[in-house]
Amino acid sequence: MPKITYVSVDETARTIEVPVGTSVMRGAVFNDVDGIVAQCGGNAQCATCHVYVDEASADRLDAARPDEDHMLDFTASPRRDTSRLSCQLTVTEDLDGLIVHLPERQN
Ligand code: FES
Repeated sequence: MPKITYVSVDETARTIEVPVGTSVMRGAVFNDVDGIVAQCGGNAQCATCHVYVDEASADRLDAARPDEDHMLDFTASPRRDTSRLSCQLTVTEDLDGLIVHLPERQN
């Protein structure tokens, strides 16, 4: 099962095995990772699942679709080039080892 590492603002890291086909957001929520709120349940409508993908991992992801790109303009913490909505990141075997950094705040 792919392992995803979530790094909090204080640099505390948790590595979690997340099933293929679910999302990086669900991997966090189901394992009580602080810093992912996911108010809309994964519908790309709240931006409270915002993460910064580690720069070393960024080229492993497909580009954001237009609806995700639009919502990234409404994140509580500043949008960066590596910003993504974790609910829109579907876990695949190819994402094993993905590292995401949690923003300072989500709402
Ligand atoms: S959970 Fe709402 S945008 Fe991702």
